[in-house]
This record gives sequence, structure tokens and C-alpha cells, in this order.
Amino acid sequence: MSIDLKEYKVLVTGALGVIGRRLTKRLQEAGAMVIGLDVSGASEVLEKDCLINGNMMDLKVVDRALRQLSQIPRPKAAVFHLAGMSDANQCEIDPTAAVEQNVVLTTNLLEACVKNKIRRIIYPSTAYVYGTSYDQPIEEGFALNPEGVYPLTKVLAEEAIKGYARFADLSCDIFRISNIYGLDSKKNTIFGTMLDQAKFKNSVFLHNLQPVRDFIFIEDVIETFARSLLYGEEKGCAIFNLSTGNGTSVGELARTFCRLKDWPPEAVKCDNEAGKKSVLVLSNQRLYQRLRWKPSIDIVEGIRKTLLQSGDIKYAQT
Ligand SMILES: NC(=O)c1ccc[n+]([C@@H]2O[C@H](COP(=O)([O-])OP(=O)(O)OC[C@H]3O[C@@H](n4cnc5c(N)ncnc54)[C@H](O)[C@@H]3O)[C@@H](O)[C@H]2O)c1
Repeated sequence: MSIDLKEYKVLVTGALGVIGRRLTKRLQEAGAMVIGLDVSGASEVLEKDCLINGNMMDLKVVDRALRQLSQIPRPKAAVFHLAGMSDANQCEIDPTAAVEQNVVLTTNLLEACVKNKIRRIIYPSTAYVYGTSYDQPIEEGFALNPEGVYPLTKVLAEEAIKGYARFADLSCDIFRISNIYGLDSKKNTIFGTMLDQAKFKNSVFLHNLQPVRDFIFIEDVIETFARSLLYGEEKGCAIFNLSTGNGTSVGELARTFCRLKDWPPEAVKCDNEAGKKSVLVLSNQRLYQRLRWKPSIDIVEGIRKTLLQSGDIKYAQT
């Protein structure tokens, strides 16, 4: 089902990041007018005057972007706030910078939104705000239990958004996203590790095959974001899990990856067969109730699409 976003003008912060690049393109395809804001760099899809290069730590930069957005003659405005420190390892190394990039940046954005009368904000949080020790799909009301600096900064950013939504009459959606995978997966993620290793050898080596995660294909995340614009303009803050609702162990993921690469089961190697099992699977019922739509790309299809996108000719021909 296609969507029509011709009435919308949208600011995407972090427009040059993994999610930002794809989201910008998808919003444009659906007819939205998009402005990007990122610290530096160029975009393949945004014209020069639609991309603001600047550091969001500077409130004036954020204000300028929001002002530019508010001047576009379209009736509906929204901001996807994607800029921040997305690398969990980097957050552990430099917690002060993590708080600045993920929390201060968010309050800067909220302040500028209030000043420029932009009310609708959509924010990507993470499944890891819940922690990792559950034996049932987690619903949004579950207690938060961040186990590191990155999810902690996400909890703090969520609180800032909830607070502003309440006292400044904003309309905010927070999406707690499960484990995203796809062609752009970063090297320090499970899927990114496999993709990277597969460039150099016909096997994958992982430290623990036991954890069960809710792997969501990046295209499903982008589609959910784009569709979310069409709903929820009421005041306040709504929180949604953005997930498939299905658990897959790291071992299963690796074996599926190798099978689709045409490699034997022995291609999956691990140095810790008795590794710790932790489970993080999120219910997506609330998301479905809102959008009447939910992520649908299963793990086999997602890996297949990734291999095709990566130009894996051998696979593309089978
Ligand atoms: N990719 C995932 O698996 C995942 C999962 C859940 C949530 N998220 C969240 O989604 C958001 C986007 O993720 P991503 O994977 O696209 O991240 P990314 O690191 O690829 O992109 C972030 C972008 O923000 C920009 N940026 C950082 N600091 C900035 C600043 N001070 N001023 C202006 N721009 C700045 C960077 O240049 C970069 O282009 C992040 O908040 C991340 O925490 C990502």
C-alpha cells in the first residue's frame, strides 16, 4: 500500500547516517519536502539548499534548520531526530560525549521546535532500554533496565521528550527499535560482523551463538517511520516497540546467512559454545494497532535482499 506525504515538510536530523539517508529518500518518494541536518558531508538525494551542515550542539544551528522548515509552504510539519551517537561501544568509551550527543542534542532540538512552533517529533530509541533478560515478548509498559551507557542515554532522551511533550504541548512518537540489520549494518553489530567477515573468507566467526534477538530489516524500519507520519498528531508522547515480534538466535541467524551464501553448516564458527543466553524480543501489537501495518520482512528474505543489494552475483543468480 503506497502512502502520500505531499502535504508534509520534514526535517531529518542525522540525515547522512545509516537510517537518515534511506529515510530521506523514502520520504521524498512519498512526496514529502525534506530538509536534512548533519554535522558535515554531502547527500546523494538532497539538493544543497536542503542540507544544512552544522553541529547540533550549537542551538543556533538547530534553530536555523527549524526556521527553514517552518518557512516551507506545506500544511504539515514533522522532525525525525536521528542525529546522535549511535555506536554503543563509543558511548562506553566516552560517556560524557554520549550524554552530550544523545541527550543535550535532543533538548536543543526540543527547544528549537518549541520556538519555531513545530509540534511533531519522531525519535528512534532502542530495545536495549529494557535490558536483555526476558523470557516473553516485551511490551512497552515493562520496566526499563538499561545495561550500559548507550541505552541509558536513550532513556534520558526519552524522558526529555516526554517532559517537553507534556509541558510544551508537543506531539511525539518514540520508537524503541530492536536489532536492525541490512547492507549498512555497522561492523560492531552481529550482522555487520558477519557481512564484514564474509568479504574475506567463506565462514563467519562469532563469540556467542546463544543470544536471541528480534532482528528487523532496515527497510521495515524506514517504512514504519514514513507511515508513522500519517498518524498520531494528538498532544503528548506515545511509545512504540518497532520490531518483528519474533526471536532468532545468533546461531540461527549465522546458519541462515551461510546457507544463503551456499556455504556448509560448518562455516559457522564459535569460540564459546556454552555462551550466555539472553533474550530480547519485543511485542509489536501496539504498533500494529496504530498503523494497521507491521514489519513483515522475515529473516530469510532480509538476508536475501541484503546479499542481492551487496552485489553477491552468485546468490543473485540462484
Ligand atoms: N542503527 C540501529 O541499529 C539503531 C537501532 C536503534 C536506534 N537507533 C538510533 O537511530 C538513530 C540513527 O541511527 P543511525 O544508525 O542512522 O546512526 P548513524 O551514526 O549512522 O547516524 C547518525 C548521524 O548523526 C550525525 N550527527 C551526530 N552528531 C551530530 C551533531 N552533533 N550534529 C549534527 N549531526 C550529528 C552523524 O554525522 C550521522 O550522520 C540514532 O539515534 C540511533 O541511536 C539506531
